[in-house]
Amino acid sequence: MKLKNFTILSFALIAGYITLNSSSGGVTSPDLTGSPQGGSANCTQCHTGTASNSSVIIMVKDFATGVPVSQYELGQTYTIDIILSDASNPVATGFQSTLYTGASSAHPGTLTANTGSKIQGSFATHTSKTSATVSSSTYKWSYNWTAPLTTTATVNIYASCNSANNDMNSTGDVIYTGSLSLQQKVTPASIQESADLKNAVQLFPNPAVNDLQVQIQNGFKGMNNYRIMDLFGRVVRTHQSASAQTAISLDGLASGQYILMISQGTDIAMKSFSKQ
Ligand code: HEC
Repeated sequence: MKLKNFTILSFALIAGYITLNSSSGGVTSPDLTGSPQGGSANCTQCHTGTASNSSVIIMVKDFATGVPVSQYELGQTYTIDIILSDASNPVATGFQSTLYTGASSAHPGTLTANTGSKIQGSFATHTSKTSATVSSSTYKWSYNWTAPLTTTATVNIYASCNSANNDMNSTGDVIYTGSLSLQQKVTPASIQESADLKNAVQLFPNPAVNDLQVQIQNGFKGMNNYRIMDLFGRVVRTHQSASAQTAISLDGLASGQYILMISQGTDIAMKSFSKQ
């Protein structure tokens, strides 16, 4: 009975070696980052000790400048630092980390290795039990993330770290987990004067009498907003149309020079005309 238990235990340890290859570095089994997508599983599946979520800091920095960011931009590359603080100064440490798109099980963008880490599929992990950069009781691994080109969702980053006692056994270790949510940075589109829009607009008759006919010859993109301004910039008429040709009534306007401002999405164009 005892022997049988021993055999099962050794087998489990060998299996652990094969799936994890821990001492040579890296956790290859699926999600052990503590994420909800991974069923909150973390390294305590094998390493004994309690999971604590207080000592892992996840920091996201711009890859090119190293400046920390609190939001991400589409298509940009970032360095993600996983920092474990442990005053017991463990001689062997490791981590696993991944990103998820919101609450879904999709991993956004692509990962590449940086200091002390390697990439296995959609997960980053240590390259060896001493691959962390150590500095006054902090242990740091870095990997790079290139954000996808299209998504508007929040990205959630999860990491688990093992502060191991290096007894060549999975007992007596301490597991830490941490997470960070990153929102996409939305830059409002800037309004600009469009030569294309201006060239596409025909006004007739000019001078106009009762109605000003506006025709957009090509490049018509849906709803257009029109504003007629006098030479003091005061808006004297507004008009909206969803078709490529429209008539704007000039009823009640004094004769003279006017400016028509056409806005279509973030493009604007101005044209002058006169009323008889
Ligand atoms: C399937 C079981 C299993 C899981 C899950 C597991 N490990 Fe291990 N790990 C082991 C075993 C067995 C050892 C001991 C063998 C050795 O020393 O390499 C070990 C050793 C280590 C070591 C080397 C230090 C030491 O004590 O030898 C590190 C670092 C490590 N694991 C990190 C992790 C991290 C980080 C996770 C979670 C992301 C994790 N492990 C999850 C089984 C596991």
